Amino acid sequence: MSEALDPSRGTPTTERVRGIFSRIAPRYDAFNLVSSFGLDRLWRRATVRMAGITPSTEVLDLAAGTGDLTLAIARYGRPASVLSTDFVEEMLRVGKQKAARYHGPTRISFAHADAQALPFSDASFDVVTIAFGVRNLPDRQANFREVRRVLRSGGRYVILEFSRPPFAPFRAVYHAYLERVIPALGALIAGDRASFEYLNASIRRFPSQQELARELEAAGFSRVRWRNLTGGIVAVHVAEV
Ligand SMILES: C[S@@+](CC[C@H](N)C(=O)[O-])C[C@H]1O[C@@H](n2cnc3c(N)ncnc32)[C@H](O)[C@@H]1O
Repeated sequence: MSEALDPSRGTPTTERVRGIFSRIAPRYDAFNLVSSFGLDRLWRRATVRMAGITPSTEVLDLAAGTGDLTLAIARYGRPASVLSTDFVEEMLRVGKQKAARYHGPTRISFAHADAQALPFSDASFDVVTIAFGVRNLPDRQANFREVRRVLRSGGRYVILEFSRPPFAPFRAVYHAYLERVIPALGALIAGDRASFEYLNASIRRFPSQQELARELEAAGFSRVRWRNLTGGIVAVHVAEV
């Protein structure tokens, strides 16, 4: 079967995902900025707004990578604390360097954590966030169970992820961009075309807005809602416990 037709092309496995992110960590931020035309910053701010953060909120940021959502939460949400976690040290290291330049009221800390088996006690956070991470998890159900366990009653899971633009002509243009431009940019900026072919394929095979909402409900979350951003290229889902 050709690589282009292989349905497993965008399938995450722990080994594959760790390998990709440990390789691209130093170039990850540059790639993000260029490939999203800077829109990722607006998407993160919208995510923070939807998280309903107050000065006493304790936030856990999963698959936090180089810390862009963690820092947006601290800057624009100003919660009591945000714990930035990931299972790739190279990504967390970049996040720590960036956080050293933050001087606001939020306490930012870092921990190594697999989003599918969290090393935290039950009911220890008010908000759990994940940006562009849930798509990379081989076992979403395990993640949903773990997030429900560590959230306090009334807490929220806030997911920013690539999604499915509902307007078909726009979707076609976007898919062509994913197919042709993203791997080429990956090769140029990160010197790693294969990883960005995975990125494209993983976006294409990820559930739509409605499907993800149904999965969250089936996992026991309530009041599940979402907002499309940039024509549905990404969506922010909010689910409560
Ligand atoms: C596309 S990056 C997103 C990083 C960051 N949240 C952002 O918005 O830029 C995906 C991150 O998920 C992390 N990741 C993937 N699977 C994970 C897992 N099972 N547990 C923890 N982190 C994971 C990767 O190491 C990587 O840093």
